[in-house]
Amino acid sequence: MSERWYKEAVIYCVEVDTYQDSNGDGCGDLPGLTSRLDYLARLGVTCLWLNPIHPSPLLDGGYDISDYYGVHPQLGTLGDFVELATQARSRGIRLVLDLVVNHTSDQHPWFQSARSDPDSPYRDWYVWSEDEPPDRRQGMVFPGEQTETWTMDPAAKLWYYHRFYDFQPDLNWSNPAVRAEIKKVMGFWLQLGASGFRIDAAPFVIEQTVPGVNPGPMDFTILDDWRQDIQWRNGEAVLLCEANVAPEDVPKYCAAAPDGPNDRAHLMFAFGLNAKLWLALARCDAEPLIEALGTLPKLAAMAQWATFLRNHDELDLSKLTDEQRGDVMAAFAPKPEMRLYGRGIRRRLASMMNGNLSRIQLAYSLQFSMPGTPVLRYGEEIGMGEDLKLPGRLAIRTPMQWDASRSAGFSTAGVVELVRPVPARGNYSAKRVNVEAQRPDRESLLRWFEELIRVLRECPEIGVGEVSVIDCPLPRSVLAHRFDAPEGAILLLHNLADTAVTLDLSGVDPGTGRSGKKPYEVFADDHYEPPAKNLGQLELNGWGYRWIRLRRDA
Ligand code: NOJ
Repeated sequence: MSERWYKEAVIYCVEVDTYQDSNGDGCGDLPGLTSRLDYLARLGVTCLWLNPIHPSPLLDGGYDISDYYGVHPQLGTLGDFVELATQARSRGIRLVLDLVVNHTSDQHPWFQSARSDPDSPYRDWYVWSEDEPPDRRQGMVFPGEQTETWTMDPAAKLWYYHRFYDFQPDLNWSNPAVRAEIKKVMGFWLQLGASGFRIDAAPFVIEQTVPGVNPGPMDFTILDDWRQDIQWRNGEAVLLCEANVAPEDVPKYCAAAPDGPNDRAHLMFAFGLNAKLWLALARCDAEPLIEALGTLPKLAAMAQWATFLRNHDELDLSKLTDEQRGDVMAAFAPKPEMRLYGRGIRRRLASMMNGNLSRIQLAYSLQFSMPGTPVLRYGEEIGMGEDLKLPGRLAIRTPMQWDASRSAGFSTAGVVELVRPVPARGNYSAKRVNVEAQRPDRESLLRWFEELIRVLRECPEIGVGEVSVIDCPLPRSVLAHRFDAPEGAILLLHNLADTAVTLDLSGVDPGTGRSGKKPYEVFADDHYEPPAKNLGQLELNGWGYRWIRLRRDA
């Protein structure tokens, strides 16, 4: 077992406002989430990543913060946060908070002061230009919703920079006062019980904006400082970077020196792997994954990938070629309203798989057996769908479906008072998809996830081992990979197509280890014949998966 908790964690991403309402106002809150900790503990998650919980005008799902030291009144109080942290910890669950410090809300008192007074101490906390920047209409993140990255502020009579929406002015990270303040923010939440931060938009924090210079210089000392500081304050605290950057740039987010120690972020979202997972699923072809695993950037020892299939944003396919993206769109987002920003898909996984349970399980078995720590978004464990009537990314941010009632057990408020509607019709409605119905049903997706996570706990090499793709002739639809670690070795077989196959892996070193045991199955989609000692003649169903332990030196 690794001594680093994040290497063998299961991270669950939860939006507090849509998870559980405790006071009947129609909005989920921190006490509501606390009341669901037993459910989460039973599921097996060991860390919750909370999307932003701070005061905010909520024009971008809370990613527009107006006070870093508070909790949004609809979600609860600071006391409620500490109670959540305490109760979670007593169940072995840690909390990671979204740290959204590339920008603030334009309603933040810092920006209000900065824009209205040239002598404000906060004027230089933001990024200004006296002249219209030549690249004013470049670098937008939300095409179709955003037309520029520099906007004239009528109060300041200056142009201000905003990588995202115009209500999200960028903080000036060249200013030492900004750096000092955000360190205080991090210290504050660590003191209240957080165990780390998801660094929102990490590359844009690090990029120092200069009008007309694209890209601006990158200042990684910000990450150096954060790592030093949080580790000093709380030895177990982690940084998890959101950085969908070129493969050659990824390692820099984890280590200052090439091949140096892990002295920056502990965890990196595996964006490259995510896109290739979806391409492989769309094409029913293992090749994109074989390529992705073979070319996975090498992270510093102790740094870790955070794998995911879906998150709270659109499924971002921007790093695929047009042809590859076209294939994923054709398979999983055939209608224009399922797509977003010309690069992504605003759907949940279960509906993308047409509700096919075997295929959903195949996809998640694949994710959970990829190198790294799995991140699971709330509601995926029961196979929730999306509501395409809601605008943009809200389609995938509907309330958690606890039971079949009209408010899905999410709230006691009337349906019109809910923060977002509960899907009432169709295959993914709360009537058809909910926790209460799945809990007693051994064949349900929820029970399957509980089992998956239990098994993963017994396979530490997936979190800490060396991954390699098995190099032997196999059908195109089959991925065979393995992990080797001091703790043991495991072989993983996944069939990305719906046709059954028989595999001959007799060339693979079964490495039975000191125990002398022959290979044995620890997890599979079916009751297969036990694997032979030489791994010959292995059956694999359509959409099938098998996790075969080769060695365990406990
Ligand atoms: C990335 C977040 O995941 C997304 O939801 C948000 O809109 C942008 N950053 C801006 O903060």
